[in-house]
Amino acid sequence: MNRTHEIPSDELPPAFVERLQVVVGSAWTLDIEQSFRLPKSVAFRVNRLLTTPALACPELCAAGLAIEPLPWLADGFFVSSDQRALLTRHALVENGHVYVHNPSSMLATLALAPQPGETVMDMAAAPGGKTLHIAAMMGGEGFLSAVEPVQSRFFKLKANLRRGGAAFVRTYQLDARRVPNKTGPRFDRILLDAPCSGEARFHVAEPDSYKNWSLRKIRECHSKQRGLIRAGFAALKPGGRMLYCTCSYAPEENEAVVDELLRTESESALNEIHLPVERWQPGLPEWQGHRFSDSMSRCRRILPDHLYDGMFMAMIQKLTDDGLGKPRSFE
Ligand SMILES: C[S@@+](CC[C@H](N)C(=O)[O-])C[C@H]1O[C@@H](n2cnc3c(N)ncnc32)[C@H](O)[C@@H]1O
Repeated sequence: MNRTHEIPSDELPPAFVERLQVVVGSAWTLDIEQSFRLPKSVAFRVNRLLTTPALACPELCAAGLAIEPLPWLADGFFVSSDQRALLTRHALVENGHVYVHNPSSMLATLALAPQPGETVMDMAAAPGGKTLHIAAMMGGEGFLSAVEPVQSRFFKLKANLRRGGAAFVRTYQLDARRVPNKTGPRFDRILLDAPCSGEARFHVAEPDSYKNWSLRKIRECHSKQRGLIRAGFAALKPGGRMLYCTCSYAPEENEAVVDELLRTESESALNEIHLPVERWQPGLPEWQGHRFSDSMSRCRRILPDHLYDGMFMAMIQKLTDDGLGKPRSFE
């Protein structure tokens, strides 16, 4: 393991740094170390529900923004960290034509691959960046619902959807663990961007981002995530797919949550995720002596750098009887 680029442990919680070095192993490099201390470039997506890159980009450039394209998404761009304020205060951000969010978030929505006409749910949706991206990918065709239980965040979600031209999204202020009791197994695709310890958002310049980190917090998140992933799975149609993701590196919040679902639901399986970037590792085969399902290698852990936040993703499929799309149960 290359530990020549250590983060001074009086900055981030030492136990967090030690665990992360074990999780990423030999991939621990200067890039990762600096992702916690250097200002990050700022990515954004042009919102196709309201405009196009051909219209929005010249306006941004005219305001002095030096925009660079994300090579794998026609609507995705980024600017350097010193242009953050110029971008976030631009009228196109304020009117919802442009949405600022990390490229790893955009990759999660791309991996979900929602299609026009499908029945889709974003189970933990506020503030709504991924819901808006899903809505744009569905082109307003189909049924898209977004769930968020925390009132202030629910209002923020609704405001963002309205501003982003996605008022057609059905919003529910609800603990998503209650969803399958209300809906039954009806969704083609579900995004579960689970509430988590937020490790990928830690930055040494923002002590608030990590001051509440603890193993206990990770255990609490694990417990809630288990309930949410079970609920999401129950709400999937046979043949349906759920993307489980977190912005935590902790295996307890990632591989362990997915592994338990695979072991308890005989109709569940993991699909390979194909990402258009190379900064990722497969899911871990084991953690602290606990061995996970072999298929965990189909998961992805995006490694952070000056642009990308860390992110874990698992694509779970509800199997059908015969592989021909015939439902195994529920009907
Ligand atoms: C990682 S954030 C989602 C970010 C969002 N997907 C986006 O891209 O803008 C997780 C969200 O889950 C919400 N949450 C917490 N407990 C929940 C529950 N029981 N059911 C559904 N959502 C929950 C949190 O309030 C938070 O807004």
